[in-house]
Amino acid sequence: MSDYLLEMQGVEYTYPMAEQAAVKNLSFRLPSGRKTALIGQNGCGKSTLFLLADGLCRPQQGVILLDGVTLKFDRQTLNRWRQRVGLVFQDPEQQLVAPTVESDISYGLCNQNLPEQEVADRVRRTLADFQLTELARRPLHHLSLGQKKRVSIAGVMALRPDLVLLDEPTAYLDPVQTRNLLTELDNIARSGTTLLIATHDLDFVYQWAEWVLVMNNGSLLLEGETLAVFEQLQLLPSFEIGMPLIWQIWQTLPAKVRDDHQVPRSIAELAVITNLLA
Ligand SMILES: Nc1ncnc2c1ncn2[C@@H]1O[C@H](COP(=O)(O)OP(=O)(O)OP(=O)(O)O)[C@@H](O)[C@H]1O
Ligand SMILES: [Mg+2]
Repeated sequence: MSDYLLEMQGVEYTYPMAEQAAVKNLSFRLPSGRKTALIGQNGCGKSTLFLLADGLCRPQQGVILLDGVTLKFDRQTLNRWRQRVGLVFQDPEQQLVAPTVESDISYGLCNQNLPEQEVADRVRRTLADFQLTELARRPLHHLSLGQKKRVSIAGVMALRPDLVLLDEPTAYLDPVQTRNLLTELDNIARSGTTLLIATHDLDFVYQWAEWVLVMNNGSLLLEGETLAVFEQLQLLPSFEIGMPLIWQIWQTLPAKVRDDHQVPRSIAELAVITNLLA
């Protein structure tokens, strides 16, 4: 396997009837096995990048590669591609297909022609991993939006793709479910799955991500290690995306303190440093 799982080179895509390209001259490389976040203002092209990466939109220009192999648009290649790349849509309503939670999670597994017992085992485990066991028999249209979002994530994870693209996974989730999801995502990342998460939650990005891609106006603005990317963003005040809270608090501490310590990545790390000051 190459060091980079997904790669785009000079990709351009304009939606039918649209006047402007949603994505243009987009090039980036996604490192294998790293927890990566995709950030950028509303409308910068994050969801479009995901649709392109899953073969749901076909670029008018450029190439998309998985493990160095170019995406082609014949049915067989697309089917194989989508077994390796799972996409969780921003809007769960677009994702869910079956009448109940349980049947929705088993739907994709049945399509992969897995043995019946394997499907049953994976559905049971996935329901438990995502705290959905009690909702298993519920009709999907009786669920809250946050519950639907969890089902849509669980349905993709059950398929065990090599790369999972999650579009705003914590949108609609309450704080407890957000924490549960993050624990589960860490478990999934530890098992070797590469995760790419598009989000506006910069506090989450700062604490969770190992690698960050920043988009602006349909193209890539920055890519790199999380701290390095936020350092560069700080030097671009005209690019208004905000900064993580821990980072902002850190900037208020005296320069001497900041010189003597590593930049904290969590509240706990920040507390250790501020307690030393007290
Ligand atoms: N179906 C569509 N038809 C035409 N234009 C579209 C369509 N979907 C998105 N766009 C346009 O493409 C551009 C990129 O949209 P996209 O949804 O990829 O942005 P995003 O970064 O995901 O935004 P957000 O943060 O709001 O989710 C925007 O200008 C948007 O208006
Ligand atoms: Mg979006």
